[in-house]
Amino acid sequence: MIKKGIILAGGKGTRMSPLTKAVNKQLLPLYDKPLIFYPLSILMLAGIRDILIIINKGQLNQFRKILPENNNLGINIQYKEQMNPNGLPEAFIIGEKFIGKNNVALILGDNFFYGQSLTKVLKKNTSFKKGAKTFLHPVKNAQQYGVATLNKNKKILKLDEKPKKPKSNLAVTGLYFFDNNVVNFSKNLKPSSRGELEIIDLLKIYLKNKKLTAEFIGRGGAWLDAGNVKDYYDASNFVSTIENRQGLKIACLEEISLQNKWINNRNIKNAISFYGNCEYSKYLKSLIN
Ligand code: DAU
Repeated sequence: MIKKGIILAGGKGTRMSPLTKAVNKQLLPLYDKPLIFYPLSILMLAGIRDILIIINKGQLNQFRKILPENNNLGINIQYKEQMNPNGLPEAFIIGEKFIGKNNVALILGDNFFYGQSLTKVLKKNTSFKKGAKTFLHPVKNAQQYGVATLNKNKKILKLDEKPKKPKSNLAVTGLYFFDNNVVNFSKNLKPSSRGELEIIDLLKIYLKNKKLTAEFIGRGGAWLDAGNVKDYYDASNFVSTIENRQGLKIACLEEISLQNKWINNRNIKNAISFYGNCEYSKYLKSLIN
């Protein structure tokens, strides 16, 4: 079982400037919650309660206000700073001590996943010993992402980062499960032509060793990334539409913890006084009435 999860919540934020000049992107609202609630909810749905959040230098106080180490979620949260956005695999170097001898999940702080059998897919994939898992999803604009080309048995043949002419429409989403070798592999990576360590290069090592498996978030699921302002508002509208239709919240962290039996009604009451009088608290109240 994967017990450790990392959320990468740093980055330059230039694509969403000026919104991100003063506030980290992951703390901006995605409809009714900070963006970071969504990737965190995915790790929690996978049963992971030991979480490292990697943030930019100087932003610890901002993050602590909303996700304190001492929280009502029944999870362990730790923070580490990334001095410069040197690329996604740096998460495993910064997180070496946190990871210890364990396998680890990485999720990008601006990735949003939603779908009927998502929890099942996540749980099914957490109990592996060796290798790595990548979660793929079809997109129209594959040239903006890591892209996987598969053979007819759905095995990955090839991976490319932001190819000009993608050979498939399957994007490599920002959720990855790795065995413990990822720490050493990351330390030995060389920066790409854009000057960053690349997650695709890590996945390619596993691919070469025949240790990479593809998992699919099928057509019934949604994967959105809040990479630019347009995508960000599309994701916000998506959450608004679903929540207002169903009366159920996406990524209500306390609800997931309650379902996982990590917390009880008392924690929910504490959470209500933490958030104050708001719609989110009203929803929390409905969970225990
Ligand atoms: O969203 C999925 C895509 O994410 C994958 O398909 C690509 O293969 C992968 O390289 C990545 O591409 P992006 O160009 O979208 O990554 P970006 O640089 O925007 O970073 C994604 C998130 O990670 C963002 O919230 C900022 C954060 N980040 C990024 C870097 C490079 C960090 O916290 N530290 C970093 O050093």
